[in-house]
Formats: sequence, structure tokens, C-alpha cells
Amino acid sequence: MPETLEDTHDREALDLLIRGFQVSRMIRLVAEIGLADKVSDTGHDVPALAAACGVQPSPLLRVLRALAAFGVFQVSAEGQVRHSALSLLLRTDTPNSMHHGARFWTGPGSWKAWGELDVAFQGGSPHEAAWGMGRFQYLKGHPEEARQFDLFMANFPDNRHAAVAAAYDFSGASLITDIGGGNGEALRQVLGRFPEPRGLVFDRPDVVETIPIASRLGGRIVVEGGSFFAGVPAGGDIYLLVRVLHDWSDDDCIRILRSCRAAMDPDSRLLIVEQLLEPDPRRGRPTSYLVDTQMMAMFGSARERTKNEFDKLLAASGLRAQRVIATTSPVWIIEVAVMHSGSTSTDV
Ligand SMILES: C[S@@+](CC[C@H](N)C(=O)[O-])C[C@H]1O[C@@H](n2cnc3c(N)ncnc32)[C@H](O)[C@@H]1O
Repeated sequence: MPETLEDTHDREALDLLIRGFQVSRMIRLVAEIGLADKVSDTGHDVPALAAACGVQPSPLLRVLRALAAFGVFQVSAEGQVRHSALSLLLRTDTPNSMHHGARFWTGPGSWKAWGELDVAFQGGSPHEAAWGMGRFQYLKGHPEEARQFDLFMANFPDNRHAAVAAAYDFSGASLITDIGGGNGEALRQVLGRFPEPRGLVFDRPDVVETIPIASRLGGRIVVEGGSFFAGVPAGGDIYLLVRVLHDWSDDDCIRILRSCRAAMDPDSRLLIVEQLLEPDPRRGRPTSYLVDTQMMAMFGSARERTKNEFDKLLAASGLRAQRVIATTSPVWIIEVAVMHSGSTSTDV
């Protein structure tokens, strides 16, 4: 049977998906040489750009032509390079810049783990198969990539930190403790909006020691290194767990939540900030399922979860969800309190 126009479109659509890795790898390449920041409104010829970036003109032209075919930069037949709407988003001075994401998704740690994705089908961790160690151990041994990861988390295009600060009333809190708080961006956003509370970033020692004094809001933010498997600091009115639980298996999540439970007073609140996975992919955002499979590649049994799945983890940890609050970002806030004595808990 001859191929219909629709068949041809399907073939082309699938072909581009199959070759998507080539595009994302080239986007990382141009992000790493800082190309987007060097392109101005007037346009440039490729040799000048190549010289500014310290690379050879011919391969740069070839990469830029391929990217321009996908709408990332514009390249004329004469080799003049200008920005497109998409390449402008790679500038580091653009609000919600995608520069950090461009460097992160195909960064070496992630790239090699995706190469071992088949290990996940046997219940293993692709990252462990690729690197012989867990993700956070790897980041500890690769500080440059670790800081890149922190920047990516702080500048993830979901803009979740600002969205959380806008969606929840933090005004009554004295101390907000951000568990697994990375480089402290969530607290900077919240404290920037609410002048009264102080903040504590609790994360791995190798992470918190890199938070510059200058970004601790004149001492309003303090840091503490440790592991949430061993315990978390007591005394917080509000605890944050932003995009932390999705890095872990159900059993590990329960250990983390029990550590939070042990630190909380009856009046403390824990805010779990995560995407809520839509089980029907026709209704969910495609990127949610990509984050879910990224968790599989990085951690094996870690994953995105539905609200019902979070409720089961909470019940097994002596906690209960009080409210679920939408934000302007794809993440939701699950406001959690300590379960009253006498309430039942369910095993996951
Ligand atoms: C996905 S990142 C989220 C960072 C931040 N909350 C955000 O949303 O931008 C997970 C964080 O958990 C931290 N983490 C991993 N293992 C930890 C542990 N055992 N104890 C405390 N923090 C840990 C990582 O260092 C990282 O900063």
C-alpha cells in the first residue's frame, strides 16, 4: 500500500524523536561554550563567534546550522548568526534561563546513566551500573558537576521556588527549615517575600559548605550539614521538602519522613513540594514523565508519585496531609501535619 501523507508525517515525527539525543547533546555543547551570551542583536559571522568561544569555525557552523534547523539560533546561508526566540532562552541573563538545564540533562553523569537504561528493566539502578556508585556519591566526587546540578535545581524552568513563596502564607513562621535545600534558593525566595522568618538550609555537608555567605541574606539564612536518614534539626515551624522525595524509593521516603516527624512539634507543618503524577499520559505534561524516567535512570526505584501514593507514604510515617495547594508552577504543595495519636497508619 502506498504511504499516505499522514504516514509520512508520523514517520518524520518519530524520526525526530529517535534522534532527539543528537539535538540535546549539541545544545549542551553550545551552552558550555557560552555561545548564547556572545550573540548580540547585530549578528555575527561564524569565525568571529568561534574565535570568541575558542573553538574552530567549521564544526561550529555545522552544529549551528543543525540547531537552527530546529529553531535554536538563526544562521543565514552566508553564515551570519543571530538569536531566535528559542536561543534567547539560553542566555544566562534571561529570567528562568534554560542555560543550566541545557548543561544538566546531557551532562556526563546523566548521559552515561541513560546509556545503561536497560538495567532499570531488571530492577537495577542505571546510574550505579554506569558509575559504580549512587548519584549523590558521584556528585560529591565531581564538584563542578555538583555545582552545575545545584544551579540547575535553583533555576529549573518550572520556577517552583518563586511559585511556592507566592502560594503559601509563611508569615507566622519564625524558623523555616529546608530539608535537602540545595543551594538555598527556595529559602531566598520565601524570605524575600516574608520579612519575619529566618531560614535553615539542611543538606549534605559537601553541598551546604558551598553556599556563599553573600547569598545567606545577611545571616537570616544559616546552614547545617547532615543526612536526613540520621535525623533533621528540631525547632522549625515549617519544614520544606522540595523535590527531595522523588529521588528515593518508598522505603527511603518513609525513613526521611520519619526523620521529619521526629523533629516536628504538633504545630509544625511540613510542606512537601512535588509534581503529582497524572496516571493518564494523555492528560499529563510530557515533561512530568521525563522527570519520572530521569529518576529511574539516576536512582532505579525513585519516582514521581500520585497524591494517593504520597498519602500512603505519609500514613506509614505518622503524618497526614491537611491540604493540597496548587502553585503557578507544575509543582503542588502538600501541607502535612503530625498524625494525631489514635489515628491509624498504613504500611506501604
Ligand atoms: C533534587 S535536589 C532538590 C534541591 C532543592 N530542594 C530544590 O528543589 O532545588 C535533592 C537534594 O537532596 C540533597 N540530599 C541528598 N541526600 C541527602 C541526605 N542524605 N541528607 C540531606 N540532603 C540530601 C541533595 O544534596 C540535593 O540538594
